Amino acid sequence: MIRSLPFFSLCAFLLLSCAQPESDGAAYQQLIPLADTVTLENGSFTLQENASYSLNGFSAQEADSFDKVLTDQASIHGLSLTKASGAEAALQLNVDPSLANEAYLLEINGDGISLKGGSPAGVYFAWQTLRQTLFLQADTEQALNLRAVRISDQPTYSYRSVMLDVARHFFDAPTVKELIDQITLYKVNTLHLHLADDQGWRIEIKKWPNLTTHGGLTEVGGTDGGFYTQEQYNDLVAYAQERFITIVPEIDLPGHTNAALSSYPELNCDGIAPELYTGIEVGFSTLCADKEITYTFLKDVFEELAQLTPGPYLHIGGDESHVTEEDDYVKMVNFALQTVKDLGKTPVGWDEISHGNLDQNTVSQYWASSENTKKAYDKGAQLIISPAIHAYLDMKYDSLTPIGLKWAGYLPIEKAYDWSPDQLVEGISAERIIGTEALLWTESVTTSADIQYLMFPRVLGIAEIGWTSADKRNLNAYKTRLESHLKVLDRLEIGYYKGSE
Ligand code: ACM
Repeated sequence: MIRSLPFFSLCAFLLLSCAQPESDGAAYQQLIPLADTVTLENGSFTLQENASYSLNGFSAQEADSFDKVLTDQASIHGLSLTKASGAEAALQLNVDPSLANEAYLLEINGDGISLKGGSPAGVYFAWQTLRQTLFLQADTEQALNLRAVRISDQPTYSYRSVMLDVARHFFDAPTVKELIDQITLYKVNTLHLHLADDQGWRIEIKKWPNLTTHGGLTEVGGTDGGFYTQEQYNDLVAYAQERFITIVPEIDLPGHTNAALSSYPELNCDGIAPELYTGIEVGFSTLCADKEITYTFLKDVFEELAQLTPGPYLHIGGDESHVTEEDDYVKMVNFALQTVKDLGKTPVGWDEISHGNLDQNTVSQYWASSENTKKAYDKGAQLIISPAIHAYLDMKYDSLTPIGLKWAGYLPIEKAYDWSPDQLVEGISAERIIGTEALLWTESVTTSADIQYLMFPRVLGIAEIGWTSADKRNLNAYKTRLESHLKVLDRLEIGYYKGSE
């Protein structure tokens, strides 16, 4: 699937002694996200295809998992890394607790490569930097020659997320894994899955089986839907976790609940189940605040979801409940927030939850309203800043884009990049912002190719906003780096928008 590295094979084929020119280290200046400090040094190191590596400071379990992912990802580069113990390994991967959790130090000199991270995640991000370097210079004569360098780097935000709506259209676990493999190269550490909406319920809940056997049957347009069994979902969570990506599951409530209401008549105020919905309208469904069973339902769902979630966050939705009375909305949202906290998790909700009881253990996600976001801030909440006008990757690039929506305006590559989470809402301090997210709603998205076309390359910009400090970011310089990364996407056979002409 990946084109091989031509220079070395040519040398081997011709039995030449290829005196390889040294890399100039240009690739280090093209990283996305841009690294914090890059200091070129004299000399270089040539990585052999069967180079040895060693892991230090990992627990046995962490090392097992890291071995697997490292060797898998190395094989994409044509490398078959072998494990060695101790100091002679060419590639040294060390957990160094003197560094911050996700921070890393990548050092290359004539003796080898050292990747140090404050945690296994930090080491992994150093490895992604090395991977990008290899991809960026793969077409040059210096493919595996690495210029001596010292790169010191750390993320600006702890929450660097991509959201995929698997409710409007269902995407199976292999498709989600493919997306994980793509975004991990850009140091994304969170995958938010929108698991339930009017059009479908996608996660098996053992106590409420009709949610999936009935509520998962269809999707937008009336085609067959689908759902994840808990076993499939656990496997997906583990796959993500091995790549240092935390899955944040979302059950949207009290609106966006037609699939649930259709599955259980008793959840409806009038006791009558509506038909399954395959359109793309919003704001017409609501859970029933006056029924005791609503709260039993929510408690059961979040209990099972918490069991499936090693990560800290559960997302309760809370957006666009246009047919819910305000008192009812507040009552149900407060119940969900408290239920999630009682389960030992941190609730996240769309910015409308600012009408409920928020505190420092709640996260409000800005998608539409800076007023709601300020209100959430004033109540002490943490914030995710992901405004539709900049971060909704389901918006068309321009008027000629064949798929996507445009209610939040067209979203060209520049507009997805050229903004800062801490500059959008007056009167909030940056410390309360945990991060940002690139979102893909899927009303018009039906295939893996559609996902790639809308995500790439815009998701690279949002990934950089999450990682690189605002003072280092610059649109024109970004666009130059992005040009180099389009070749990386080609190499990985990831489809992307190439302009509408
Ligand atoms: C949303 O786009 N309704 C969160």
